[in-house]
Amino acid sequence: MTSIGIHDLALATTHHVVDLAELAEDAGVDPAKYHIGLGQDRMSVPTADEDIVTMGAEAALPLLQRHGTDGIRTLLFATESGVDQSKSAGLFVHELLGLPRTMRVVEFKQACYGATAALQSALGFVARNPQERVLVISSDVARYELGSAGEPTQGAGAVAMLVAADPALLEIEPVSGVAARDVDDFWRPNDSTTAVVDGRLSLTAYLGALTTAWDDFTAAGGVGIEQIDRFCFHQPFTKMARKALTGLAQHTGATLTDELQEATFAYNRELGNTYTASLYAGLASLLDHDDDLAGRRIGLFSYGSGAVGEFFTGLVRPGYQQLRRRESTEAQIAGRVRLGLPAYRELHGAEHPSDTDWEAPSVTEGAFRFAGIRDRARRYEATPVGTAQPPV
Ligand code: COA
Repeated sequence: MTSIGIHDLALATTHHVVDLAELAEDAGVDPAKYHIGLGQDRMSVPTADEDIVTMGAEAALPLLQRHGTDGIRTLLFATESGVDQSKSAGLFVHELLGLPRTMRVVEFKQACYGATAALQSALGFVARNPQERVLVISSDVARYELGSAGEPTQGAGAVAMLVAADPALLEIEPVSGVAARDVDDFWRPNDSTTAVVDGRLSLTAYLGALTTAWDDFTAAGGVGIEQIDRFCFHQPFTKMARKALTGLAQHTGATLTDELQEATFAYNRELGNTYTASLYAGLASLLDHDDDLAGRRIGLFSYGSGAVGEFFTGLVRPGYQQLRRRESTEAQIAGRVRLGLPAYRELHGAEHPSDTDWEAPSVTEGAFRFAGIRDRARRYEATPVGTAQPPV
């Protein structure tokens, strides 16, 4: 059988960053609660001219620059912070990147799990025709109410993945374990810009989905726990992944130490929760920071509140180090501009109704920007950086 998986992946985030130490001080909370208790250091915050579309396009651009567009006939855009109830955010990205007209483009939604549904679908498209390559983009802005328990777990970012036959980074193995249960742990009503969350319930729902998915994985013929060399879990905050590994160890009776996942945390500690992108930002971090992965098996767990889960595995390809992007990703993260708390709160509360024309101020230094609303439609454009770097 043809091996199919992630041929390349790249991450993008926002112009601004809020330091959680400042947020803690302002709230009269011990900063260790955020740094150690939640495992988070900072959170990315979009400018008025950034959103899931601009981050998604930014993440996909280096993939197209490196691999071209040949064979790309499908763009799957996963998000739970969509900008339109009807049109896929992928179509804005399609235009910004100058992708071929002969493509199918669609948006996937199931909380933070959407990107895994997109990835699994992409594997199916390529299995039908190994000449095809699929662009999967996950992009989200995590926003909770100011002053809520969820506030320090906000964040923003995107990961783009090119899915292809004979992949250079990670071959995804065919067995998956899945779990689904209707639970009110986290949702965002159509008329709300922030999520409604029962934080405690979301922790138990996550752990329940993990053990159900693991049991299903085993029943479906998945490998034994001792054959998995590293773990990469969805990280709404990185401490959650530590709880998950402990939970899986208790459930299986195996000894699983945090060394098996430590390298997955570097980017998410900085970005905050990136919802659909979070698992894949963890994967990017693992591939960028662990030099000894060739031929090793990674166990991945994707969780989406509401709630679903999927456990699956991938084999790291020899030579994966040549495709790593550690330097540019770290430079992007380090290059974010500090946002003070008053400006952060102003941005957090800003709303722009779709029935009023509005021009976004030019702030982002990324390749693409949200220009504003005109005639009820969202308008996007390439910045001078974007136009200076055509995709192919
Ligand atoms: N030093 C070190 N750790 C500290 C601390 C300190 N001074 N003060 C508190 N902590 C620890 C707590 O012991 C706790 O760790 P534990 O969970 O291992 O016991 C952790 O910090 C968080 O403290 P807690 O009191 O539980 O935080 P909270 O009630 O303010 O909120 C969440 C935590 C996760 C419920 C909240 O951030 C949230 O709702 N997040 C959004 C939902 C989410 O991401 N869900 C995940 C599944 S998708």
